[in-house]
Amino acid sequence: MATKPPLIQVLPPLILGGAGFSHQLTSNPNPLRTREVLKRAFELGLRAIDTSAYYEPSEELIGAALAHREMATYKRHEYFLMTKVGRISATKSDYSPAWIRHSVHRSLQRLRTTYLDVVFCHDIEFVSEENVLEAIGVLLEMVAVGKIRYVGISGYPIGLLARVARRARQLYGRPIDVIQTWAQLTLQNNRLEREGLQLFKDAGVQCVCSSSPLASGLLRDEGVPVGTLGDWHPAPEGLRQAARQASQYVKSLGESLARLSLRYAIRRAQYSSTTEFSVATIIGGTSLTEVDENIATALQVLRREEGIWQWNSKGDSELGETGSNEQLEEDALISNGVKLIMGEWRNYSFVQEPEPQTGGLFVPTKL
Ligand SMILES: NC(=O)c1ccc[n+]([C@@H]2O[C@H](COP(=O)([O-])OP(=O)(O)OC[C@H]3O[C@@H](n4cnc5c(N)ncnc54)[C@H](OP(=O)(O)O)[C@@H]3O)[C@@H](O)[C@H]2O)c1
Repeated sequence: MATKPPLIQVLPPLILGGAGFSHQLTSNPNPLRTREVLKRAFELGLRAIDTSAYYEPSEELIGAALAHREMATYKRHEYFLMTKVGRISATKSDYSPAWIRHSVHRSLQRLRTTYLDVVFCHDIEFVSEENVLEAIGVLLEMVAVGKIRYVGISGYPIGLLARVARRARQLYGRPIDVIQTWAQLTLQNNRLEREGLQLFKDAGVQCVCSSSPLASGLLRDEGVPVGTLGDWHPAPEGLRQAARQASQYVKSLGESLARLSLRYAIRRAQYSSTTEFSVATIIGGTSLTEVDENIATALQVLRREEGIWQWNSKGDSELGETGSNEQLEEDALISNGVKLIMGEWRNYSFVQEPEPQTGGLFVPTKL
């Protein structure tokens, strides 16, 4: 394999999430829908997919879609594949070295590829820090033999992610490549921006993936998604009610909470990104309608060059290809209204975590 650039030079600002092709988020994950969504996303300039062995059967569906003749124009080196290891089900994780190796090899087969661009340790809050550190070591060995290009950790609690990143850097003499956290840079909760990014930088991490810009479907008209596995969303009823009120308010002004939330998340990610430190956004979308809408919305904040998504802050203005100053101002006004409606639910955390600075012990809660 050719010399590898630092991840920050190749990570795109916009990534498509693969959880939408799983039983968690939908009751009917299927090959045709997956192929249609991926094909449309690629046509619209997306070139990165994030999935997990846990999002059954997403890896197989994505692998089959990418191998289909309709996608043959896209060569493997032209797109980014990110997956995860360690989390097996809602109640089970396995971070043993043997399972990590097995899981990576299985992902390679399922995704029909000879290498994975990024492998994350998935939801590290459900195992001990020692288990995660050991698993990172296994992934680094797999980097050395070319099966994986970059190594990351993912989860919800920011302080824990930062602490494990610091410890991994001490142990392995190099920072981990990327941290992924979800629903922490949204209109409901922006803890990632307020506290997380600096902590991650302090651990030497240069790339962050901010996923779930709609707080996993909470910030939209239709309410949280319910798949075959039932209603797993951790938002309590009070927060769901506040989100419903917010969505009615935004609708009454002729906008949708989903679009507003997506622009907010991507803008804040852009705002924090420089040539030294990048925050990419991982978006959801399980149908052609959603992909079309989300990409049209992202275009108001980002721009494409030769059809491929580009970082704004590394170039010129804060506006995207189709955005306007009027819209920026209007979004700020509507967002303030949403924050008022959220009231005490604003910045409510799905798990109880001590302030990252205190370094206190994190008590995991099953999400
Ligand atoms: N622990 C982790 O590592 C972790 C955790 C969470 C997410 N992620 C990654 O981030 C990706 C995105 O997360 P997410 O799915 O939670 O993202 P999200 O954007 O917060 O929520 C996506 C859900 O919202 C709905 N949606 C999407 N676009 C919409 C639109 N324009 N209008 C109305 N509803 C819309 C869809 O539900 P319907 O299908 O019901 O329409 C979709 O399932 C995941 O696929 C995964 O790759 C990782």
